[in-house]
Amino acid sequence: MSELDLLVVGDVNPDVIVTAPGLTPQFGQVEQLVDSASLVMGGSAAITAVGAARLGLRVGLCSVVGADDIGQLMVVRLAEAGVDLQYLRVDRTTPTGMSVILNRGDDRAVLTAAGTISSLSADDLSALPDRLARHVHASSYYLMAQEYRDALPGYFGRVRVARVTTSLDTNWDPQQRWDLAELLTETDLFLPNEAELTAIARSPILDRAIEVVGEYGCDVAVKRGERGGEAAIAGASYRVVRTPPVEYVDAVGAGDTFNAGMLAGQLHGRDPGTSLAMAVIAGTLSTGGSGGTAAQPGLDDVNAWLRSVPVENFGRDGS
Ligand SMILES: Nc1ncnc2c1ncn2[C@@H]1O[C@H](COP(=O)(O)OP(=O)(O)OP(=O)(O)O)[C@@H](O)[C@H]1O
Ligand SMILES: [Mg+2]
Repeated sequence: MSELDLLVVGDVNPDVIVTAPGLTPQFGQVEQLVDSASLVMGGSAAITAVGAARLGLRVGLCSVVGADDIGQLMVVRLAEAGVDLQYLRVDRTTPTGMSVILNRGDDRAVLTAAGTISSLSADDLSALPDRLARHVHASSYYLMAQEYRDALPGYFGRVRVARVTTSLDTNWDPQQRWDLAELLTETDLFLPNEAELTAIARSPILDRAIEVVGEYGCDVAVKRGERGGEAAIAGASYRVVRTPPVEYVDAVGAGDTFNAGMLAGQLHGRDPGTSLAMAVIAGTLSTGGSGGTAAQPGLDDVNAWLRSVPVENFGRDGS
């Protein structure tokens, strides 16, 4: 098989998205009518993989699903998106994980049954060749089993020896411990949102938090919701604050689609500022559809928007 551009390692599960303005679930056997409910592709890794494939990369996904209808549906949808699944494992003892997302306006509550989301193991990482892809991206670190988490820095180190670059989006730590030092030393590009970055760096000031994480030797691209994104790459700083106008539906998977845009920029050989703009454009356009993948853009769409989304290039001190 020819080499992939990108291998994504992490979670795949369906998201059930329930949307209504002002939605608050009521117990006591009350039935409430909502605007819409849909079952879509979820899991940070799967959304990033599908988004990157749509942006023209050759993408593989290393993940686990259960031996059930829902797992089979995810496999079919990933294959339709062109994602290579030779390292996707079926776990016969655990049901496919699932999230129910209750959406109201720009806020949401998420109920997750972990299932196979935490089935990825150290053995799954050991089975991966050193150089399956030019770049490896790991998602949802804090949802994974401890033995997988313990093995991830060693896996990143091993592929880096084979000149593979690495990136990481931990997403939120439900236990709020935020321990990440060892993994960051093996990470080339860290992709947190602002709340995650400031928690991990233990500094509430964004510029300081970027500096703290940079001391581990990694580049950083930070997601800032409707305020766009900021990056510190190879000693230079970039900011994108203007986002394309979009009829907002929900922000589910916007961060994962931002990752896809950033990685597509870098792996297509674009400069860091352009890659950040591609990330912000892809993330923003994805908010125009329900769930993570429905409104993910192709490369032509993103390229067209690059002309109207300026990138500020500024010094470390903000000048
Ligand atoms: N309300 C919004 N309006 C415009 N763009 C948005 C909005 N929310 C998100 N985005 C775009 O999506 C990108 C990533 O979003 P966000 O900051 O929500 O990431 P995240 O918190 O990591 O998301 P996720 O829940 O997917 O992990 C932003 O940088 C921005 O480009
Ligand atoms: Mg995120």
